[in-house]
Parts: sequence; structure tokens; C-alpha cells
Amino acid sequence: MSRVFNFSAGPATLPESVLMQARDELLDWRGSGMSVMEMSHRDKDFMSIATAAEQDLRDLLGVPANYKVLFMQGGATGQFAAVPMNLLRGKTSADFIVTGAWGLKAAKEIAKYGKANIAAKPVDSRFNHIPARETWKLDPDAAYVHYTPNETIEGVEFGWIPEVGEVPLVADFSSTFLSRPIDVSKFGLIYAGAQKNAGPAGITMVIVREDLLGQALPVTPSIFDYKQVADNESMLNTPSCYAWYICGLVFQWLKREGGLKVIAERNQHKAALLYDAIDTTPFYTNPVAKSDRSWMNVVFTLPDAALDAEFLKGAKAANLPGLKGHRSVGGMRASIYNAMPEAGVQALVDYMREFARTRG
Ligand SMILES: Cc1ncc(COP(=O)(O)O)c(C=O)c1O
Repeated sequence: MSRVFNFSAGPATLPESVLMQARDELLDWRGSGMSVMEMSHRDKDFMSIATAAEQDLRDLLGVPANYKVLFMQGGATGQFAAVPMNLLRGKTSADFIVTGAWGLKAAKEIAKYGKANIAAKPVDSRFNHIPARETWKLDPDAAYVHYTPNETIEGVEFGWIPEVGEVPLVADFSSTFLSRPIDVSKFGLIYAGAQKNAGPAGITMVIVREDLLGQALPVTPSIFDYKQVADNESMLNTPSCYAWYICGLVFQWLKREGGLKVIAERNQHKAALLYDAIDTTPFYTNPVAKSDRSWMNVVFTLPDAALDAEFLKGAKAANLPGLKGHRSVGGMRASIYNAMPEAGVQALVDYMREFARTRG
């Protein structure tokens, strides 16, 4: 068996010990004589897996008791629609802080149900920084304020939680979920597709304050109605059972590693290693304001885009795949989520330095 250091933005690398545990339990989950893939979601074995995963997630994030934790389907893109359907609650608009392409998509999706007020966005959509807080034009009558703590494509991350007064704060945590501790009580709702930091594609975590439930628009599909999903313990229909199980294994791994404080220190260190290589090698450029650089998705360009293909080919040959930047922005992107070991980042840095030395 040979494994590479996979820098893909998502689906992304998973902890090796989780994959090995899944392999060991694949045919016979703990004496049940069947795979988790084959279990009824109503079976007590699967119920125990589901309940433990929720509890571990609550423990990791310190989720307060007045928040529901939901395991849904439809990805983060589904939540771009589910959030307005559930949270407009008789209001007509929501505020959007747009710091990248995903925030922009979320703002576009609300148009079917209400209005997006773009309260902040860099001039000319140059997504390389977070607009200063004092420039935001928040509407005190907005149903909620939406932002994207980490913009996966541009590599722009909030290192802080915005204060927005009484209006509920909603965050698309997809690509930075569980990468550091957060104060959940500051949010009305958090959502995250699993396939970056939490597990495989096909499951989406939603953490929502209870008082926001129960006022969904009448057109809301039942599977997107948070109240109905919560009342049915995320089993209104057949959930994404296997993905739920793997997320549970990832949550247990995070606990074994020491929890989110330890993980955050590790992530900060890995990111510093890579940004330092970029900043000290004139060959590479990162366009993001230093204070807003992502710990999870590190973007960089070479001096000439004509070198990109050769860089990527050499990286793949060196067992470092997944470095191609998103097609909308080009360049390179190294996604260094929780499961990327420091050795992977070091191998990338070594490869980058050598490439710059020979081609620079
Ligand atoms: C920040 C962010 N939001 C939303 C999405 C879309 O997620 P999904 O494919 O789960 O709908 C992504 C996917 O890359 C993302 O990075």
C-alpha cells in the first residue's frame, strides 16, 4: 500500500487511523455480523453510532444545550437554500458579508425566497482580504447576517467572530469546521459540508439555536425544515448512514488527538510553515492580506502560469497531488486540513523550494 499527501480541497484527506478502523470494521461492525453500510438506520447499533457521533461533536465544540445538532444531506449548497427558507421568519432580507466565491453563491441563492443585502464585499470582488468591520453596512432589521469563515477558493479566513448585535449570525463553516475552537453561543446557526475536515461527502452538519426553529416558509421541503429534522433526530428519511459513521470516527480521532485547541495549534503551525516558504521564496506569491490568510487553504502563484503544468506534474510524481487551484482563479492551492500531517506540508515545502531553485 502506498499513500500520498493529498492536498485536494474536498473531498479531502482523512486521518489514516480512521480509514484503518473503517477497514477493520467494514465487514463486521463490532460483532453485528454486518457492515455499517448494511444496517437499518432504525437499528439500535446504528442509533448508538449516530448518538455517539452527535455527543462527540457537542463535546468537541462545546455546543450549548439550547442548540440542535442536525445531520442533513444536500451539502452546503443545500444549506444556501435551507437557511433562508427557515430563517427569514417573516422578514424580507438577510445581510451577507461576501469575502469569496462561496459567500457570493450563498447570497445568490436567497433570491428565490427573499433579498440579499450585500453588507460588505471587497471593491471589484477582489477577494484577497476581509473588508474592515467599520465599513460593513448592516441592516438592523435583517433576518440574519451570513458570512463564510473560510473561503476555500481564495484562501481568505476570519480569525475572529464578527459582532453583529441582536441579529442572528449564520456561518458556512464548510472548509474550516473543527479546525479550531469556536464559541458556538455567538451564532444563530452554523453549517458545514463534511467532505473537508469532518468526513466523506454526503452529509452536512447544522448546529442551530432552538428559538430559530419552527417558522419555515410553507414551501420548505420537509427534509430541509430544521424543526422537522430536529424532531425526528435527523432521521426524517434515511440519513447518509455510512458518512455519519465515518464522521463519528473522525470526531473520536479529534478527541484522542487532544481536542480542538491542540488541533488549532497544529493547524497554525502547518500554515505558518507553508506561508513562510512562500514569503521567503520570491518565486511564489500569495495575494491575501497577512491577517486574513487561511490556515486551511493556502493559495499561491508561480511567476509564470506557463510553469503551472510542470509544477503540478512534478508534484504528483513526488506523491503530492491535488494542488491545482480552483478553475475560477487558477494558480495553486494546498488544502491542509486537520488530517494533513506536518510531514506532508514539509514535503510540499521541500518540493516548492527545489522547484524554485531549478526553474527560478
Ligand atoms: C465554503 C464552502 N461552502 C460551500 C461549498 C459547497 O459545498 P457542497 O459541495 O457540500 O454543496 C464548499 C465546497 O467546496 C465550500 O468550500
